[in-house]
Amino acid sequence: MAATNIHTEFHRFLNRQDKETLLGQRGLVIWMYGLSGSGKSTIANAAERALHEEGRFTVILDGDNLRSGLNANLGFSDEDRLENVRRVSETAKVFAANGIITFVSVITPRAALRGLARGIVGEDFFEVYVQASFEACAQRDVKGLYAKAAKGEIPNFTGRDSSFEVPEKPDLLLDTESTTVAEVAAALLDAVRGRISPA
Ligand code: PPS
Repeated sequence: MAATNIHTEFHRFLNRQDKETLLGQRGLVIWMYGLSGSGKSTIANAAERALHEEGRFTVILDGDNLRSGLNANLGFSDEDRLENVRRVSETAKVFAANGIITFVSVITPRAALRGLARGIVGEDFFEVYVQASFEACAQRDVKGLYAKAAKGEIPNFTGRDSSFEVPEKPDLLLDTESTTVAEVAAALLDAVRGRISPA
């Protein structure tokens, strides 16, 4: 049952602008989604390192990592994916509201899940589709998941027996089949530069 008698007290806390001024940047949620193995985490990692070099403060919320802690009780049913995305969205929202450039790396396979995330995060939401075909991801198969899924060892595997809806109009599309990691990371940083630099 949901808790009652909750009194939020955000007005007593230091405000966002105080923190953004301290950090010399603006908070943003860069929501990166796509098939397993599409390159989400790799690009987030490369972009984060580049920003770190510039003195920016960032966080990566990675699906696999969060599923070993905050989301350890969730699987890959539609219902669990929704709860997964909801929790990640609420977490990302808190970080961005504290001036932190926040990379999210979760499959987020359906338009409704992306809509949920955007609805929770609000105007700090920047949606990045990391595009690589199922075949290309299966060929990379960095974690061996595609081979296992082909043998029927992973239920609800995204793109196989659990659908991935290709987005119609993401804020940015990064094609990792025909472009290098360095190139897509640079394209990502170009795209968000105006939203993370001090106002
Ligand atoms: S979701 O759909 O947004 O809730 O998924 P996410 O939290 O990003 O978790 C995806 C990572 O979990 C591993 N994994 C699976 N992926 C897809 N389908 C199934 N059934 C599955 N089981 C485990 C996999 O390592 C995913 O990580 P990435 O980084 O996407 O490869």
